[in-house]
Amino acid sequence: MTNSYLWWQKGVIYQIYPRSFQDSNGDGIGDLMGIIQRLDYLQSLNVDAIWVSPIYPSPMHDFGYDVADYTGIHPIFGTMADVDRLLSEVHRRGMKLILDLVPNHTSDEHPWFVESRSSRDNPKRDWYIWRNPAPDGGPPNNWLSFFGGPAWTFDEKTGQYYLHQFVKQQPELNYRHPEVLPAMLDIMRFWLDKGVDGFRVDVIWLMLKDDQFRDEPPNPDWDGVVPFMKLQHIYTQNLPGVHDLIRQMRRVMDEYDERLMVGEIYLPNQELMKYYGQNYDECHLPFNFQLINLSDRMTWKAQTVRQMVDAYEAALPQEGWPNWVLGNHDRHRVATRVGPAQARVANMLLLTLRGTPTTYYGEEIGMENVPIPPESIQDPPAVNQPELAHLIGRDPERTPMQWDDGPNAGFAPAGVETWLPLAPDYTERNVAGQETDPTSMLNLYRALTNLRRSEPALSVGDYTSVSAPQRGESRGADDIFAYLRSVPNSDRFLIVLNFGSKSHTLDLSHVAPQATIAVATDMIRSGPVDLSNLSCRPDEGLILRLD
Ligand code: NOJ
Repeated sequence: MTNSYLWWQKGVIYQIYPRSFQDSNGDGIGDLMGIIQRLDYLQSLNVDAIWVSPIYPSPMHDFGYDVADYTGIHPIFGTMADVDRLLSEVHRRGMKLILDLVPNHTSDEHPWFVESRSSRDNPKRDWYIWRNPAPDGGPPNNWLSFFGGPAWTFDEKTGQYYLHQFVKQQPELNYRHPEVLPAMLDIMRFWLDKGVDGFRVDVIWLMLKDDQFRDEPPNPDWDGVVPFMKLQHIYTQNLPGVHDLIRQMRRVMDEYDERLMVGEIYLPNQELMKYYGQNYDECHLPFNFQLINLSDRMTWKAQTVRQMVDAYEAALPQEGWPNWVLGNHDRHRVATRVGPAQARVANMLLLTLRGTPTTYYGEEIGMENVPIPPESIQDPPAVNQPELAHLIGRDPERTPMQWDDGPNAGFAPAGVETWLPLAPDYTERNVAGQETDPTSMLNLYRALTNLRRSEPALSVGDYTSVSAPQRGESRGADDIFAYLRSVPNSDRFLIVLNFGSKSHTLDLSHVAPQATIAVATDMIRSGPVDLSNLSCRPDEGLILRLD
């Protein structure tokens, strides 16, 4: 029955931040040959697709999200021949390759913008968003950059401001100009023709802005911390017209077989669901970042997660395929947010929920945020707002992959200075060390992906949350989130996750009398269990096969 599902419905996606995965040429920065060298490792994780953050030519003001040439490769990452090799090596292993597409903005060094800023009557002038100064000479309106300061920069030569919601070297394209979208669609075709299996589309929900350039109203709930949050972004985000752009992008995807379009969208359920499209003609997967938004141990609670999962499931349109994300290159590492013990529970959750999981590199070994000394900070929002670096700086989650306990953690040759510092604990937490430990997080990750791959109930089965009463009480245990995954004619699974640090004795006999442990987070517990008297230890997760 799983044959009727597409690869991206059954599969697990693994995100690689290419600067930090593997340096093959000793410049301290990861590259494409490095990824190729590590493909056997990725295959051993049982992941089905890799998504690689931008590898295009870029002045790197936002580490590749400022693209200067959409169909080229930055020499620090390698060459187009390396991409071709990567693609064929990925495919040879039965995996898929997803690239990052950044349509909302280019680099200010992109030839389109160089032309656009050259004069007011250049044919590419209106490919970007230019406005006259306000009467006092200041920015045209109150719009803000995510990375601090106004979203407008004045261009002395032509006397107008251009829009950028990220750094000033990331001018925004104007999708109200009739030539811009067709140009972006051609770029998509270029990569799809090469055989790339899909795109993760950067800030897809920001691609259109208000054509009257109205001021955004103040945010009454602003907590006074991050300046960008001062306003309600009703004229720069989630404009209804953006759906038409996305439908046209999807039509290009549909010119090819089984390609995947994932949209980066930070919106609440009701709005997020619109990005599947009224006729399922927009994103295959609008990224669901609810787990990523649980930013600390205070919010990482069993009942919060249960309600979140149930609400998301209930909000999904009939044929909308769910997805879950635990970490990415923009948010603090999950092991730091929830602690190392709960990071195991988090991986079990991610890999047993219904829907496509996305793992951020290093999460399979429990990598944590790395403290970055002030003089080594690189990330633009942290450089622009040093007082907020600890909150919004993204360097700590972008540090080199920890491969072994040797020099530079096996990420780069000995003696090379890596672009970001290595984790201070890399000699203890690394792939090689965890390979040989049967109870490691790495081996837990493999056990989880292996089971998910072999059991249709876990990859495509239904999801139902179940109550988990303490033995002898009718009340559910607050720390426990339990759910069933099932599919006709195949084994069913009960997943029991303890989000707390106390042990619980549960009575789950309303589900079934007994079960067998298929995977436990400690990688030790196994064998049959009596569901009327199930002990669930602190920070423990269990996948139980129902007889
Ligand atoms: C979202 C990306 O994930 C982030 O890293 C980047 O800075 C912004 N978009 C701008 O492209």
